[in-house]
Amino acid sequence: MLRTSASSDSKMGKVLNLDTINSRVRDMEYAVRGALPTRAEQLAQTLSCDSTKASLPFKQIIFCNLGNPQQLEQKPLTFLRQVSSLVEYPELLSPEKIEQTKLLFPGDAISRARSLLASVGPSIGAYTGSSGLLKVRQDVAKFIEHRDGFPSDPSNIQLTNGASEAVARILELVVSDPSVGIMIPIPQYPLYTATLTRLGAQAVPYYLQEESKWSMDVPGLTGILRAHREKGINVRAIVIINPGNPTGGVLSSKNMSEIVQFCEREKLVILADEVYQANTYDKKNTPFTSFKKVVSQLSSDVELFSFHSISKGMVGECGRRGGYLEMHNISDSVKDVLNKMASVSLCSNVPGQLAVDIMVNPPQPGDESHDQYNAELDSIYNSLKSRANKLYHAFNSLENVSCQPAQGAMYLFPQIKLPNKFIDYCSKDNKLPDQEYCMRMLESTGVCVVPGSGFGQVQGTFHFRTTFLPQEKYFDSFIHLLTVFHKDFMNQFR
Ligand SMILES: Cc1ncc(COP(=O)(O)O)c(C=O)c1O
Repeated sequence: MLRTSASSDSKMGKVLNLDTINSRVRDMEYAVRGALPTRAEQLAQTLSCDSTKASLPFKQIIFCNLGNPQQLEQKPLTFLRQVSSLVEYPELLSPEKIEQTKLLFPGDAISRARSLLASVGPSIGAYTGSSGLLKVRQDVAKFIEHRDGFPSDPSNIQLTNGASEAVARILELVVSDPSVGIMIPIPQYPLYTATLTRLGAQAVPYYLQEESKWSMDVPGLTGILRAHREKGINVRAIVIINPGNPTGGVLSSKNMSEIVQFCEREKLVILADEVYQANTYDKKNTPFTSFKKVVSQLSSDVELFSFHSISKGMVGECGRRGGYLEMHNISDSVKDVLNKMASVSLCSNVPGQLAVDIMVNPPQPGDESHDQYNAELDSIYNSLKSRANKLYHAFNSLENVSCQPAQGAMYLFPQIKLPNKFIDYCSKDNKLPDQEYCMRMLESTGVCVVPGSGFGQVQGTFHFRTTFLPQEKYFDSFIHLLTVFHKDFMNQFR
């Protein structure tokens, strides 16, 4: 989506043009904010001018290109917002105001705000230590211990501005030179390819198996790894996104044990992106298991970095930019370097750190807010599960569309067998067929999704990724829009 050519910039005497800037940054691609969302923003602008509204066939843009729940009206968790309000404006806790505050805020929100403020020091407007507040890291470690049944040490936790920063930091650490390769799933979340392009490293793709719910072909990993190593690529790490984005797949613990054993044999570091760990929709048959747990169960010495975030789950606080990474089996000297890396950006934002604390340490049974917190969590969870299921059935009822169920995460990634007539038309016009399909969907319905080419897909197959985040009250009409669009499309090109 680069607007001007290098030659026109250099003719204007600019020091910076597309030929002189960092080519790795220029060449990065990030489809979830790419051509489709850019066009969607333009259309949203058009809709906001009343005079032109009538010229479009829809009244609003439905942004399904990002797992951004609150953009689609998911209600924030009350307790998190109450505590956040109090820490932002601590005068509400002063002796003069506290009686009025008690009329508005529950006692446990007040006491949590007080204890967080005590751990912050004078103000949340001050920098914290580079790895984040000790109290929050202690709470994260307790959360991990409770989740996995294995110890976690706060000194192995870094708080970050979302998982994105954590992932970028670890990739930067691992990529020591351009011969380094990192195994990434295909399809993948484009943070990985974008960051590897920026760092000048090699993405080593391994394909997920669509027909078996996007599972991982662990025996196949060895062949891929060997082939790349033989080409001189220094493959050092593997990225695993579990639950998967864009696929919605959830790994079994058996599969995960095989992966850990493979990494042990082949001396690979694991980057476990577990931001969707709270989003699994069949907790009995496909529960979430962390890589930390599997590595610990196997007493493995595989080096592991795990990532979590407040952007997903039922918390959905994407804009607050909170997350953490946990290091496991990482040498002390490398930990020191990572702490130095964190210190270069001073610290992650403090409201995000405090929101992490609430995610990992929610109100407990007996606390005033416990019932409401859990009711809000359950309501979001049940609704996500039901929307995932509805959309899955809707896609599978469409001609030439097949879709795997969302065992987890916030997305469906249906495959469309695009008619040859359409593919021929696209190749004559030099267009990517999946991108053109999605663009047509946007122009006729206002629904913004992301073409499969932005995530990677088996050559010759076409997909798109959509979230199932539109709220329940709009969900049937959302499905109706997609259905009518697809039927018209097939009638035109069948
Ligand atoms: C798999 C995956 N990892 C990381 C992220 C980044 O999340 P954050 O908002 O915490 O930076 C996302 C966001 O959608 C994601 O889907």
